[in-house]
Amino acid sequence: MKAFYFLVALLALASSVAFAYDPNPLQDFCVAINDTKGVFVNGRFCKDPKLANANDFFFEGLGPGNTSNPLGSRVTPVTVNELPGLNTLGISLARIDFAPRGLNPPHLHPRASELLVVLEGTLYVGFVSSNQDNNRLFAKILKKGDVFVFPIGLIHFQLNVGHGDAVAIAGLGSQNPGVITIANAVFGSNPPISLEVLTKAFQVDEDIIKYLQKQFWYNNS
Ligand SMILES: *[C@@H]1O[C@H](CO)[C@@H](O)[C@H](O)[C@H]1NC(C)=O
Ligand SMILES: *[C@@H]1O[C@H](CO)[C@@H](O)[C@H](O)[C@H]1NC(C)=O
Repeated sequence: MKAFYFLVALLALASSVAFAYDPNPLQDFCVAINDTKGVFVNGRFCKDPKLANANDFFFEGLGPGNTSNPLGSRVTPVTVNELPGLNTLGISLARIDFAPRGLNPPHLHPRASELLVVLEGTLYVGFVSSNQDNNRLFAKILKKGDVFVFPIGLIHFQLNVGHGDAVAIAGLGSQNPGVITIANAVFGSNPPISLEVLTKAFQVDEDIIKYLQKQFWYNNS
């Protein structure tokens, strides 16, 4: 019986602790530095907290991003790589600018869910669920002020379907969400994935795969 109460208490404790995806910090802050001294940790080394100053927590001038590129979109990330004070905090953001018909192509974040808020314009957005859920598409047209969430690890995209430019801000649940752009990863990998793998996977002729592998897969971030 004692063991049972212990187990109940343990479960209650476990469920009262909220876990963000990144590990929780164990101090006020841990401003990232690049000095690895040849040793690598999960995250970044911290600067001496006594030497931290306001600029470690500051990023100047978020956009607008230049959308003159083949996709007509530009992602300006503010992750721990751009803002060292984000180290251990489990959050980051990005600004996304879109020219008319500009596309942020299908991609996923291996380490973060994403909350998108439209500041200007009209976006057609969506994500696709996993195989277990039969790859359902969840899509929506968003206008200024609308918010949409893309669950962690799922493929998603945004297309500007309005007449003018569009601007969105994405909040991400990791200091370093990571990006895998599907077309770039599959057809633009270095070195290329073998033709046999891709022809079987996509059920098309080799010529089509060769054509796709020859494209320049633009990276908009
Ligand atoms: C750390 O290294 C990255 C990439 O080399 C660089 O962009 C960044 O400015 C560096 N940060 C600091 C605080 O030195
Ligand atoms: C935007 O990018 C294009 C293409 O790289 C370049 O020609 C242009 O000067 C850039 N515009 C600005 C305002 O930086």
